[in-house]
Amino acid sequence: PVAPTESKGCTEVDVAAALPTREGWSTPLTLYKNCWLRTHTLNRFMLVQDNFKPRSDDIILATHPKSGTTWLKALAFTIANRSSYDFADHPLHAVNPQHLVPFIGAVGGDLDYIETIPSPRLLSTHLPLSLLPPSLSTVGCRIIYLCREPKDSFVSRWHFDNKMSKGNYPINLDEAFAMFCEGCSPFGPFWDHYLQYWKESLARPQEVLFLKYEELVFDPVKVVLKLADLIGVPFTQEEESSGVVEKVVKLCSFNELSSQGVNQTGSVERVGGKILIQFSSLFRKGKVGEWVNTMSKEMGEKLDILVEEKFKGSGLMF
Ligand code: A3P
Repeated sequence: PVAPTESKGCTEVDVAAALPTREGWSTPLTLYKNCWLRTHTLNRFMLVQDNFKPRSDDIILATHPKSGTTWLKALAFTIANRSSYDFADHPLHAVNPQHLVPFIGAVGGDLDYIETIPSPRLLSTHLPLSLLPPSLSTVGCRIIYLCREPKDSFVSRWHFDNKMSKGNYPINLDEAFAMFCEGCSPFGPFWDHYLQYWKESLARPQEVLFLKYEELVFDPVKVVLKLADLIGVPFTQEEESSGVVEKVVKLCSFNELSSQGVNQTGSVERVGGKILIQFSSLFRKGKVGEWVNTMSKEMGEKLDILVEEKFKGSGLMF
């Protein structure tokens, strides 16, 4: 079930020329329908809303970037396919989790390819709900959404973009922070992203599971049980008593995944070689509250105030 990973060749887009575009992250971002997308991905993602055909039994892993997407993909894939693979000889030993669940519309997840996947499909996206087809809600697609405490999310983004840029930390922290707080970060504004899925989870609680990275870190067993229920493959009593849930957690843990050879040495190039995604950079620290080692206390306070303002009255808190 491994999706093709190589690009058909992303082209720079003409439409981007007419839209606001900003430099500052590892690649330029363009504001499309209130969402900042990497300019070189615009052509692909603009197609998704009108051309992706959701099926009622789709399971979509929707994540704000740098919230643990790689981890969630590993967990959901392992849970959904646990009757097909032995833990000792598992695809996660040879394939980066990002390549086990295709991103809708992205490289490796072309809409034509997505259409050929048999049901039930396990798919993923970083797109906000507002850039996905409205029929996703009406046909009842199940969604597992993952976000993260914004300070940790920002810090994870900043380190990752620096590594992608191939230079020696060329992205200025203060400028990146200012952009993040203005909402200008890949797939941002982050608050719109979180709130759209939050509201969807309130409207469709049986079909939309809203998760935070912190819940996964503090109680992975509990989250794995919830994931299996939502995916429609709950653990049997026998599985629970024989430790299968714990085996899933261990297989997908930071230590296990980051020590696989493919995740230590594998990489893919994008944008004609301008950026390099080393799989090792998808596994940095994997900690909660790690922002203190990169951001100042003042920056932290500023972001906390913004977060409080943006989420006020929604019921969503960090
Ligand atoms: P840090 O940069 O804070 O370490 P994404 O997969 O959405 O790009 O998110 C990347 C973040 O998830 C990184 O956070 C990374 O270390 C963390 N991560 C990746 N795999 C993980 C795992 N198995 N357990 C915990 N955290 C993980």
